[in-house]
Amino acid sequence: MSTVPQNAKSNASAKSARLTIRDLSARKVSAGVAPMVWLTAYSAPTARALDLHVDAILVGDSLGMTVYGMESTLTVTLDMMIAHGQAVVRSSERACVIVDMPFGSYQASPAEAYKSAARVMAETGCAAVKMEGGAEMAETIRFLLDRGIPVVGHVGLTPQSVNRFGGYRAQGRTAAEAKKIMADARAVADAGAFAVVVEKTLEPLARAITAAIPVPTIGIGASPACDGQVLVVDDVIGVFDLFKPKFVKRYAEVGAAMRAAVAAYADDVRSGRFPTMEHCFVATPQKTTKKKALPKSSRK
Ligand code: KIV
Repeated sequence: MSTVPQNAKSNASAKSARLTIRDLSARKVSAGVAPMVWLTAYSAPTARALDLHVDAILVGDSLGMTVYGMESTLTVTLDMMIAHGQAVVRSSERACVIVDMPFGSYQASPAEAYKSAARVMAETGCAAVKMEGGAEMAETIRFLLDRGIPVVGHVGLTPQSVNRFGGYRAQGRTAAEAKKIMADARAVADAGAFAVVVEKTLEPLARAITAAIPVPTIGIGASPACDGQVLVVDDVIGVFDLFKPKFVKRYAEVGAAMRAAVAAYADDVRSGRFPTMEHCFVATPQKTTKKKALPKSSRK
């Protein structure tokens, strides 16, 4: 089932058709609609490539690893998120753009979260922000929402807490863990999050959360039953190919294609096959134009 509106066939006609959080928040699969498609993007060309094919673009803090080669998302800054958020908003017209709040920019207090999120909203023009955390973030989510900032929640494996988890293992393995994640999902939904990302939990838990909460769940390594799916675009197209998480399906090998292209270019330069005269500029002889005689009728 296609969810691309008829008027989104070209970028020009899509101008007034950007999906809103209202559109997204209504998309429970239990209402008989197709699952939502979310993907991350961090740059202008990627945003342009995604725009007509996805419902939402998430400017994820995963950019710490995919773009900046960091070891985790913990060292990503608000300024980085804003710069990449601007590129994505500028280069998309239809998809709803959501920007991740980076570690340390929102956890201390609702007021601090508001200050950071307001900067993200004002400086990027995105539609909403995403925050990791469960029940402990409920007050903050409410605070932001009351002040006009829509929030996407994020429960299960929350990578900004990698040090507390001691790694990136799937969550919800014990009954107590599963109970807590379910309570977290309910808490952020009750607080007003318009969607909740469920990351790397055991499948039955993600399925149960999807059935339990009234707003859409967006799964990543979660369950086909979720109301939408999100992946890191670099994983999907094979740009990030150092390793492939189990929950990723790769649709292209862009990293390999890039290496092959660069190797061919290097080879051409070293062997003198590039550039050729076809790639050079030469002066073209200037044409001398004779003054045209005026028509008789206009002669005085
Ligand atoms: O930062 C990120 O890319 C995410 C994932 C859920 C896609 O938060």
